[in-house]
Amino acid sequence: MKTWFITGASSGLGRTLAETVLRHGDNAIVTARSVAALAGLVERHPHQVLPLALDLTVPAGIEPALSSALERFGAIDVLVNNAGYGLLAALEETDDAHLLRNLETNLIGPLRVIRAAIPLLRQQGHGHIISVSAIAAFANEPGFSVYGAAKAGLEAASEALAGELAPFGIAVTVVVPGPFRTDFLGRSLDTVPRLPVYQATVGKFAALLSSIDGKQPGDPTRAAEAIYAIAGLPKPPFRLVLGRYASNKFEKRLHVLEAELQAWKAVGMPTEYPRA
Ligand SMILES: NC(=O)c1ccc[n+]([C@@H]2O[C@H](COP(=O)([O-])OP(=O)(O)OC[C@H]3O[C@@H](n4cnc5c(N)ncnc54)[C@H](OP(=O)(O)O)[C@@H]3O)[C@@H](O)[C@H]2O)c1
Repeated sequence: MKTWFITGASSGLGRTLAETVLRHGDNAIVTARSVAALAGLVERHPHQVLPLALDLTVPAGIEPALSSALERFGAIDVLVNNAGYGLLAALEETDDAHLLRNLETNLIGPLRVIRAAIPLLRQQGHGHIISVSAIAAFANEPGFSVYGAAKAGLEAASEALAGELAPFGIAVTVVVPGPFRTDFLGRSLDTVPRLPVYQATVGKFAALLSSIDGKQPGDPTRAAEAIYAIAGLPKPPFRLVLGRYASNKFEKRLHVLEAELQAWKAVGMPTEYPRA
């Protein structure tokens, strides 16, 4: 039996993951900005759940949340940084408030949670940090510059963390979903007024997203089972790409990167000092 700490468990992937781990008999500390949104989980699993209010843009809430978790269950085996939301805007269309809130929620907040949890996990001598990224981190589209930057930052940090924390028995994984049927394209997609000059690019992507809302191919229950399957494995994957859409897009991007590296090697390689 494991104890999970899952952020953003009020809906979507986080909620479904919480339901999955509880169904498997594990314990879960579940967070959302309002604990009222977690009431259903508590009613169904009163002995296995600790609901906590946590807003990732409020750093002061993080340490107390982790302390309450430890007090209740004595350990955190799997930490899931799931909470997040999209910002659909050309960079030029954003202001600082939109930019910073997105980076704070999707990147800085999760890094603060991880940083605060590391001493506990080190002391335990084990732990698995799983962060929910997005395919936009690796293969992005016009309109997701800020969101993609936040998720790419989370992935880059996680890669370094994997090396920093391996000596302490702590594993790190990033989960990379494509479109999953959650509230992401509804209440979790922030927008700004569109400048007409971005209609053909950002507007086109926005139209695509709104056309798939409610019809996304990704099934949160299957995603949760996949995450459950890799949690706590002796050698979990660093990156778990979820769904056919994201897998295909990832693969296509790998080919583009490989071709670009080869095509421009002759320009990039000779920039070192001549070898002695
Ligand atoms: N669904 C997709 O297509 C998709 C694709 C790629 C990546 N993702 C990623 O998957 C993760 C989960 O999203 P989802 O698809 O399950 O969407 P969702 O159903 O809208 O869930 C988003 C969760 O994030 C929480 N959240 C948002 N802002 C927060 C903040 N400032 N502080 C704390 N919690 C906050 C929400 O909690 P509140 O109740 O407090 O609002 C909610 O529980 C996100 O990181 C998202 O970027 C989703």
